[in-house]
Amino acid sequence: MCGIVGYTGRDLALPILLGALERLEYRGYDSAGVALIENGKLIVEKKAGKIRELVRALWGKNYKAKTGIGHTRWATHGKPTDENAHPHTDEKGEFAVVHNGIIENYIELREELKKEGVKFKSDTDTEVIAHLIAKNYKGDLLQAVIEAVKKLKGAFAFAVITVHEPNRVIGVKNGSPLIVGLGQGENFLASDIPAILPYTKKVIVLDDGEIADLTPDSVNIYNFNGEPVTKDVMITPWDLVAAEKSGFKHFMLKEIYEQPKAVLDTYKGFISNEETIPFWLKDYRRILIIACGTSYHAGLVGKYWIERFAGVPVEVIYASEFRYSDTPVSDKDLVIGISQSGETIDTKFALQSAKERGAFTVGIVNVVGSAIDREVDFSIHTHAGPEIGVAATKTFTAQLTSLYCLAARESNEREELLKKVEKIPALIEKTLAKAEDVEKVSEKYLKKKDFLYLGRYINFPIALEGALKLKEISYIHAEGYPAGEMKHGPIALIDENMPVTVIAPKDRVYEKMLSNIEEVLARKGIVISVGFEGDKVLKEKSADFMEIPETEEVLTPFLTVVPLQLLAYFIASKLGLDVDQPRNLAKTVTVE
Ligand code: M6R
Repeated sequence: MCGIVGYTGRDLALPILLGALERLEYRGYDSAGVALIENGKLIVEKKAGKIRELVRALWGKNYKAKTGIGHTRWATHGKPTDENAHPHTDEKGEFAVVHNGIIENYIELREELKKEGVKFKSDTDTEVIAHLIAKNYKGDLLQAVIEAVKKLKGAFAFAVITVHEPNRVIGVKNGSPLIVGLGQGENFLASDIPAILPYTKKVIVLDDGEIADLTPDSVNIYNFNGEPVTKDVMITPWDLVAAEKSGFKHFMLKEIYEQPKAVLDTYKGFISNEETIPFWLKDYRRILIIACGTSYHAGLVGKYWIERFAGVPVEVIYASEFRYSDTPVSDKDLVIGISQSGETIDTKFALQSAKERGAFTVGIVNVVGSAIDREVDFSIHTHAGPEIGVAATKTFTAQLTSLYCLAARESNEREELLKKVEKIPALIEKTLAKAEDVEKVSEKYLKKKDFLYLGRYINFPIALEGALKLKEISYIHAEGYPAGEMKHGPIALIDENMPVTVIAPKDRVYEKMLSNIEEVLARKGIVISVGFEGDKVLKEKSADFMEIPETEEVLTPFLTVVPLQLLAYFIASKLGLDVDQPRNLAKTVTVE
């Protein structure tokens, strides 16, 4: 939530900051702004709305500044107005701050500062940081930041510049992500790697409690006591093409099409690192999987594989529920946290809590060096590349790959089971080749207000995922249900207006699914099905049929999810909605 960037170097800062903000816009898009230091003065330009509104406001303004900071906001404290947009400044307009996260004690700090006569211009928690730094400034920005940070409580990352030291940007990390990009004669700060990819692949990932002090020719890292810290420089494997649309209308569509590669790369990564995995699931009495949203749905699919291949009982729990639960956890449990971003605060805190309760923790994360990646006892990386669309797609199938491999590794049939993954990319390609059929189906349902998604056994989580995809990008109400549960309530919703998307590959519950379809038809519901190509029985019962290639039961979730991603995509796109940046959402959720 919220993206922050900073630049100091020999080039014009404004275009660099705007480009970086565009690549970070997936983190929040309620407002955007920049602060620049030009001829000893602080210039602040900020605007409610998306970055294009800021760009419009900047037309014709030819700023020559070579140091600056920028922000794209997902509002927490204060409405998304121009005033509440970042950067925020001190009263004299000498210090500017951009911030991601929450200052939990900001009310108390605000009252203290007000008593000292400080006048506030915004409703945000961020503004206190600018005033505190100004108040503590005695000629050295680093010292002023160290003093200000002592007063702050919460999870945050921020960047600050001042007119007094025009070639310096300071960044602070405590709970929210912040990286440093190392250039030649220029250095960068950003919430995430895609922001800086056009300029450098050399990255320092800051840890909590660290401060980065940047000039064009130097980067120094300190702890909150001002002591220098030595850090490793990482070369990111991500490239710019991965963070661009490459001719696709939306990132989401591009990322749906990248799934064969995401699965293959994740599989290869797993195989080459398998020997370093320091645990066996079978050595534990129980596996707990903790995650949110789409990652939670991947965990639900993982449960079926782990229970089937490893024979260990699995519980899948929403991270936000686990942290405050009384669920008994001990060193007999292994806890897996799944997170694309590796920054989701609910998942991070839940894993910390599991660790404190004695469990061995494992992360399945896509972003190397992210908070969760470093929090857990051991990490397994998905290799999906950067995912920019807010709706998770390729990272979901990559997470499935990691979970499948992790479970298969425990089986007596390890080799045979792992080998099966090699055929998944081609099967996904075949499924994608039918995208036009799904597009035609989508056109019939643009005006629907509600959808039901039904699945059983290993495809029940895919029903949940299909419904989540539809609601988050098309704003159409959709519910996923285990098909067998329909008769216990949701069946009351079915009439001639209700599309019911059923997932019915020929697996152990196929016959049961056919019976559930009959129950829907008897109530005049409209059946849209996902099933194996050539399944005439299913096709005849369905108003619309979306086919996937025939495959064995355990692999079906890799395929059944694809038409559902496409269906959601085409519906939202044809409704003219902002597919990549749906309202109220942000890609990385760093608030509880
Ligand atoms: O980065 P994470 O995997 O931890 O994110 C978890 C959820 O916020 C995420 O999956 C969310 O539900 C997606 N927008 C769904 O498409």
